[in-house]
Amino acid sequence: MIRWCFILGIVAAFTLQHTVKAVAQEPQPNLIKEEMIAMNDAFTNLIQALILNKPDIIEGPFLKVEEARKKVEEAIKKREKIILPKNNSKFKEFMKIDDEYHVELEKMLAAAKGRNMKIVKLQTHKLLNFCVYCHARFR
Ligand code: HEC
Repeated sequence: MIRWCFILGIVAAFTLQHTVKAVAQEPQPNLIKEEMIAMNDAFTNLIQALILNKPDIIEGPFLKVEEARKKVEEAIKKREKIILPKNNSKFKEFMKIDDEYHVELEKMLAAAKGRNMKIVKLQTHKLLNFCVYCHARFR
């Protein structure tokens, strides 16, 4: 009887360990990466719109970026872990750069709505500088 309990115990322990491992290894969605993939599509489309002088096609893909950004913000509010590939301890600085970036992005979108491609072009240059700067620092 004792031996059976012992064997059952071991089986139970292994099963439990397996379950815990399975939960721990469940891949966490990388929300920043998801936002960035949307951002990359929107930015590529923006360049295309500039080249072809098509202000109307600019905004659409940025709506997806906005959705992805909201998810990141919610995760930060809920104190879920978001890990930056580089300089993770400077998360506040990352947030600050991200906020500045989004101010410039809003200006670009407003210019696109007003069909002012001169300002769109200027803002696009600024945005590109942000992509490069932030990646050098945090990616
Ligand atoms: C405020 C900081 C910041 C700005 C601004 C920023 N990025 Fe990123 N980006 C990141 C970080 C951090 C990662 C790495 C995410 C990861 O791998 O966890 C990243 C990753 C990426 C990736 C790789 C995604 C993948 O599949 O691995 C692309 C593409 C990208 N960014 C495009 C852009 C473009 C285009 C812009 C500008 C229009 C931009 N990013 C602006 C922080 C930024």
